[in-house]
Amino acid sequence: MKKIIIANWKLNPQTLKEAKRIFNSVKKVAGRLSKVETVICPPFVYLSALRATGAQDVFYENPPAGGGAYTGEISAAMLKNLGVKYVIIGHSERRYPPVGGGETDEIINKKIKTTLEAGLKVVFCVGEKKRDGEDEYLNFVRNQIKEGFKNIPKKFFNPPAGGLIIAYEPVWAISSQKRAKADNPESAFKMAIFIKRVLLQKIPILYGGSVSPENAGGFLFKAGMNGLLVGGQSLIPENFIKILKIANNTK
Ligand code: PGA
Repeated sequence: MKKIIIANWKLNPQTLKEAKRIFNSVKKVAGRLSKVETVICPPFVYLSALRATGAQDVFYENPPAGGGAYTGEISAAMLKNLGVKYVIIGHSERRYPPVGGGETDEIINKKIKTTLEAGLKVVFCVGEKKRDGEDEYLNFVRNQIKEGFKNIPKKFFNPPAGGLIIAYEPVWAISSQKRAKADNPESAFKMAIFIKRVLLQKIPILYGGSVSPENAGGFLFKAGMNGLLVGGQSLIPENFIKILKIANNTK
């Protein structure tokens, strides 16, 4: 199975020119790597110019034909018609934004359903806010998974309809957090096993949170992750390319 490496550009960059520069530098190399599926998720406004295959979010309902009265929103159908294949859902920066109310498990569950029904793949983010010694964080993640996947039809867990991917991103490890530090491969391995047990289904699990060329190999090979969700380092083409090449060295 190919490793899945996803770039989450967040609110960057500020010009299409710069977006093209980053995208094209990565694409040149990514196209030659046979063991990696590379997905770049730029801001919505660049999707069409870049012909990128990943989006960072989606609206929670697919309005009936003719559209809907939802100012500022983007539907799964719009993304699908643009050629997008993957959608990040439930990112911690949307669950717990610095300002205003964040997304609830219920909204995230709706987004997952709508996106799968539209024929897109879902990159569902889970992860605890803090790591305690009592293993409480495992229950926290279990709960996020249960709520996110509530009443999702079984067919979406299996090929060919299957389009679910889990990204384990401990919130404290995301580079924008104060004192952020990547998890270590041993504890990420424990989490991957735990998630597989909760799911009882074989779906790809990615690691995210301060991924860099230095630690990518540990998460892919020691922790046995099926891929990575990369934020900050995905905006620096030479570093992101290093990560892609590491992933391509998989047996
Ligand atoms: P980071 O972001 O790699 O900059 O920590 C990851 C993410 O938030 O998806």
